[in-house]
Amino acid sequence: MSADKLIIFDTTLRDGEQSPGASMTRDEKVRIAKALEKMRVDVIEAGFPIASQGDFEAVKAVADVIKNSSVCGLSRALQKDIDRCAEALKNAVNPRIHTFIATSPIHMQQKLRMEPDAVLEQAVNAVKMARGFTDNVEFSPEDAGRSELDFLCRVIEAVIDAGATTINIPDTVGYNVPEQFGSLIKNLIERIPNSDKAVFSVHCHNDLGLAVANSLSAVQNGARQVECTINGLGERAGNASLEEVVMAIRTRQDMFRCNTGIDTTQIMNCSRLVSGITGFAVQPNKAIVGANAFAHESGIHQDGVLKNRETYEIMRAQDVGWSDNRIVLGKHSGRNAFRSCLKDLDIEFDSEEALNEAFSRFKELADKKHEIYDEDLRALVSEASSQLADEHYKLVSLKVCSETGEVPLAEMIVSVDGQEFNASSTGSGPVDATFKAIEQVANSGTKLKLYSVNNITTGTDSQGEVTVRLELDGRIINGQGADTDIVIASANAYIHALNLLRNPDNREHPQHVNV
Ligand code: KIV
Ligand code: ZN
Repeated sequence: MSADKLIIFDTTLRDGEQSPGASMTRDEKVRIAKALEKMRVDVIEAGFPIASQGDFEAVKAVADVIKNSSVCGLSRALQKDIDRCAEALKNAVNPRIHTFIATSPIHMQQKLRMEPDAVLEQAVNAVKMARGFTDNVEFSPEDAGRSELDFLCRVIEAVIDAGATTINIPDTVGYNVPEQFGSLIKNLIERIPNSDKAVFSVHCHNDLGLAVANSLSAVQNGARQVECTINGLGERAGNASLEEVVMAIRTRQDMFRCNTGIDTTQIMNCSRLVSGITGFAVQPNKAIVGANAFAHESGIHQDGVLKNRETYEIMRAQDVGWSDNRIVLGKHSGRNAFRSCLKDLDIEFDSEEALNEAFSRFKELADKKHEIYDEDLRALVSEASSQLADEHYKLVSLKVCSETGEVPLAEMIVSVDGQEFNASSTGSGPVDATFKAIEQVANSGTKLKLYSVNNITTGTDSQGEVTVRLELDGRIINGQGADTDIVIASANAYIHALNLLRNPDNREHPQHVNV
């Protein structure tokens, strides 16, 4: 008997973006969507189009370019949401509308202030409206994990009759435990007379650290779609992590009667891209994608692995896209070698200008750092394309004095639309002084919400990748910079965020928008 297909529905761009501070610009969403498509994700939930003009544009931009994955938009069970969602998805090759309404007693009474029969009617109407635009309609009874089974069965049966093709069961507040959640799925499939007309899906939150366990238990009980996010990003404690779900299914084929279509070698690429863009660093001991996930420190383990890898390893690092830290280029490498290395990494440029910019940055980097790895190239290209996007502010030069017993001082020249300005400031440290000096010129009124530094490869000559998150009037923007000098990387990240904030398309964070 051939194994079933387990549909992987990625919601990094929607639920993932609901993590406080994880807002993404339209272009960043498109970059992540392309990486997800390449990884062969089945469905990409790109956003919540009614939430804001910016999110509408982002969903539309994703729908316009993605060809091999279905693109999905979220909508409440309301006509205006569904119309907006359909409009954003109109160019998608395979559009899906995902509509939801809460079904738990607490949500119906306290949040919606609606009677159960009215909720049921609104759910059915919403599914019918969505079917007017596409035959690929998903319905979610929000807070299903705390809903009453009889009512849940009534709602689901009715929405399947109305045309829903996927029924997604969310554990919205991360309250369920694996055995209970698995039997909920089993009960629903067994009790609902038309359950064979829809795919059952699950969407688990990680408040008790059980999102992946609950999702896997649901799969063992008949769910054939899992909603998940890269690095487990998501509202509050996050959603089930895509890489953990996918690798558990693949590694434990003896326990699951299904398979995903995911190209697992793309996992690291997606993980790095998402952490770089959102500034949410991956903890070192995170399963699959953490820096230590495949590192063996103890002598006994190292000895065992050298004798036979399977003594302590259940997966191969290469299978999830960990590279061997290949030294790919050096100071003397030319443009052709550079281009061909990027091709190996599947990095493409939109224009010759972008390639030239990346090449000149590579030359600068190669002067400072003799061995250039895959990771360096990825960071460099991402930095080159982000800096090209809008260069209203540009760092021309920076000098920082930091000495024991002295107050750090930053002196810099910043160009604003090509005109150069000098600035200098002291600060509690070199980065603080640098940011204060930039603000002397920009006077942006922003608040610094996050500052994080990660090294891209190992060693003290590694590039530092910096994320700076700024907030202005409810809009939250992440800027990135990478350099072997982390103060320069920090200045570039700050300036990148300021440039992004100037673009009105880079919208408010969805959580700040009153839908
Ligand atoms: O957690 C949740 O209930 C959701 C729904 C919109 C599916 O994100
Ligand atoms: Zn959710």
